[in-house]
Amino acid sequence: MSPSLEPRNGEPDKLKVVVIHQSRTGNTKRAAELIGGAAEAAGATVAVRPTTNIDMAELADADLVFVGTWVDGLILFGHRPGDSTKVRSIPKLWDKRVAAFMTHAINPGRAAERFAGLLEEHGADVVAFRSLNRRHLESEAAGFVAEVMASTGG
Ligand SMILES: Cc1cc2nc3c(=O)[nH]c(=O)nc-3n(C[C@H](O)[C@H](O)[C@H](O)COP(=O)(O)O)c2cc1C
Repeated sequence: MSPSLEPRNGEPDKLKVVVIHQSRTGNTKRAAELIGGAAEAAGATVAVRPTTNIDMAELADADLVFVGTWVDGLILFGHRPGDSTKVRSIPKLWDKRVAAFMTHAINPGRAAERFAGLLEEHGADVVAFRSLNRRHLESEAAGFVAEVMASTGG
């Protein structure tokens, strides 16, 4: 049963969401904040964290984790997750439901799919992946969260 549907004291438990971001110039951080805001508006309790400041207990307790980084590539080819070493430095995500997000400028190629693969190697159960255009973060982040929450029963 989804945690959001488990009753406690007559009230449904809130889905616990952690949003982790790796950002150089702020776009992915902004995307993480928008994702956190949308998840909160949908009824979840949310914590937004950079990769350098993960709370282990909070992560262990999370029902759903968003992990984001930026698209690194040569615009037309070679797309890959930016700062992948830093993303790999976060704790293993064993059995966690994870939604992978990225931000890009023009063309993400298949970076989001590669990022999903990286997170699966890191133990995640990846339920969705997408790269968001840095110029349309508000609308694209909201759409991604709605899709992820619907698919996970949140
Ligand atoms: C070295 C480098 C390579 C990049 N390669 C691409 C690319 O191939 N395709 C693209 O759409 N954006 C590319 N970008 C743009 C970033 O992905 C985009 O600005 C992103 O939102 C940055 O996220 P941040 O502000 O969280 O660091 C590149 C940026 C850098 C610095």
